[in-house]
Amino acid sequence: MRSASSQDPALVFEPLGPGHASSLFPVLGDVRVWEHLPGSDGATEDHMRAGYARRAAGPGRAGERWINHAVRLPGGPYLGRVEATAHTGEGWAEIAYVFGLAHRGRGYARAAVRWLIGQLEVDEVWACTTPANVRSRRLLEALGFRQEPPTRPLASWDPGDLTYRWDRHR
Ligand SMILES: CC(C)(COP(=O)(O)OP(=O)(O)OC[C@H]1O[C@@H](n2cnc3c(N)ncnc32)[C@H](O)[C@@H]1OP(=O)(O)O)[C@@H](O)C(=O)NCCC(=O)NCCS
Repeated sequence: MRSASSQDPALVFEPLGPGHASSLFPVLGDVRVWEHLPGSDGATEDHMRAGYARRAAGPGRAGERWINHAVRLPGGPYLGRVEATAHTGEGWAEIAYVFGLAHRGRGYARAAVRWLIGQLEVDEVWACTTPANVRSRRLLEALGFRQEPPTRPLASWDPGDLTYRWDRHR
């Protein structure tokens, strides 16, 4: 398993809830954060709060688990959040991640996604990203994801997206 690396920066992961909207809105409310994610998250703090409440409530479907965490520095600022939908019965998961602009390029997002994968009790993990989202593609490639055509019904796929697969046994 490619799990936490001793080189990774120390991060704190908090199960995401509606109360995180007030901390994460200043970090993720900037439209530039969503440049490659049209139609996503947070036009307003209230919208974000409602989305986090839905995530915390979970899918309400057997065999599917939602994993959502806010990410921050120990005793310090919030950086962003990570999420996964795990299809535990079928052995695969789909992930996404979004981080604010202030602390990019320091390996925090990469470390957080590595941690997230370590939480998933599945062998196969998928992520979708637009071709122009170079930071996201680099992050996935650094963690051992490979660009492959999808073989799973990926909920986060939008037309034109690239799909990346990580395999625990590869
Ligand atoms: C995708 C996203 C999370 C990537 O953020 P990021 O800041 O580039 O990622 P990291 O924090 O892991 O930074 C990695 C870079 O920091 C550098 N770095 C600096 N110090 C580092 C360290 N100690 N450890 C690892 N990397 C380090 C790396 O070399 C790497 O640079 P490179 O890409 O040129 O190789 C961010 O751009 C984002 O939130 N985008 C909006 C949401 C989104 O598009 N999500 C994807 C679809 S779900």
